[in-house]
Amino acid sequence: MQKLNQLLLHPSRLVGADLAAWINVGGGEGLLAALENPQAIVATLQESGLGGMGGAGFPTWRKWEAAVNAATTNGGRYVVCNANEDEPGTFKDRYLLEHTPHQVIEGILIAAAATRANHAILYVNPHQKESIAALTAAIPQWQAHELFKKLEAHVGAPVNLQLVPTSGRYIGGEETAVISWLNGGFPFPRRKPPYPAESGVNDDPTLINNTETFANVPHIIRNGAQWYRDLGIGEAAGTKLYSLSGDVLNPGLYELPMGTTLQSLIFDYGGGMLEGRAFKAVFTGGPSNTLLTAADLDVPLDFTSVRARHSSLGTGAMIVISEGTSVVRKVSEYVEFFAANSCGQCPPCKSGTFQLARLIDRVDSGVASADDLRALENLCQILPGSGRCGLIDGAVTVLKSSLRTFPEEYGLPAQQ
Ligand code: NAI
Repeated sequence: MQKLNQLLLHPSRLVGADLAAWINVGGGEGLLAALENPQAIVATLQESGLGGMGGAGFPTWRKWEAAVNAATTNGGRYVVCNANEDEPGTFKDRYLLEHTPHQVIEGILIAAAATRANHAILYVNPHQKESIAALTAAIPQWQAHELFKKLEAHVGAPVNLQLVPTSGRYIGGEETAVISWLNGGFPFPRRKPPYPAESGVNDDPTLINNTETFANVPHIIRNGAQWYRDLGIGEAAGTKLYSLSGDVLNPGLYELPMGTTLQSLIFDYGGGMLEGRAFKAVFTGGPSNTLLTAADLDVPLDFTSVRARHSSLGTGAMIVISEGTSVVRKVSEYVEFFAANSCGQCPPCKSGTFQLARLIDRVDSGVASADDLRALENLCQILPGSGRCGLIDGAVTVLKSSLRTFPEEYGLPAQQ
């Protein structure tokens, strides 16, 4: 079996909000190394292969480079840690913030060093009270630490490290919605480009990364890119947090080498399926992606390999269902979630998610007509790409995938 919890969740690093305890286990060394050679930070991230852990796996260095190179419009530069985490089945970021907040903050401060940011914001879901409590205790300790003074000297200005509670809405985690909220508005997403790294809060360069992404950074800067790459399997670099839930014996949060197979996550670490239940499928990445089935159990869990199966690793959430669990029922729950969480500014998303939810509920209730099914399939054709953000696309992707993979549950003939 591969090594469990060797980096972010290593027991020695789960020191809570005590900065001295974090420094005792090597904390601060990454930030110090970053301040000694700030020009090397982006190149080291590039060599490390770190990708964005919020779901897209976008090369972290590219975003950082864009933020470094972007000109400021109104004199500010921002780094934002996105800890809105509200995706069904995802519970990793809140765990990091509660149990090892300094690991995350140090990554944010390294980002501030790389981009010479004078604002460092922890954007945190207010429903996650333990995260808020840990950060409220952790932030002043950094502000009083000599490394923070060194950082401010490097930036050439005071660094405003602060916690900003999010709206607590799902859509508030979409990065352009983050900007809208931080600018004092409702968290409405907008179309990209411009990317936040180019123009974000107050129209200034704004580097937004997910909590888990920042947590990796101190280790990469401290130990080097190759060291980090070697934690993964094959071409896959580093580790990944997996939020495992559903019909498995041992649901929970697992940190495993990037590239561990789905089979191994579920059966070696998750203890396998519940007594007497056979594996059926996995809703991955937050339930907005293509379902993984028994044919995919061999897939290495890394961004590239999962994409090659036409799905996405996403946030690393793996919601496992067994034979006997209705796919239609689960998809219906998730589509209803998307309908309830559409921000409403794009009419096709607002009415489309509602229509999808209504139709699939009819399937689930056993009263769907052939016309209902045709309408469902038509909506899946016309809705994608019709919103400013990816919400409607996520709802359609999981629905389409279930229609394709489990047509008999919809009363449709099996596909050849
Ligand atoms: P995206 O593919 O549009 O962008 C990914 C990241 O790369 C963004 O931060 C974007 O700003 C950056 N980027 C892309 N091109 C760039 C460029 N040329 N210069 C600078 N930066 C650039 O993806 P998006 O919409 O931000 O995220 C989609 C993913 O989020 C999905 O995979 C989904 O699984 C996940 N997701 C995560 C949730 C959570 O709670 N963590 C909730 C909902 C979805």
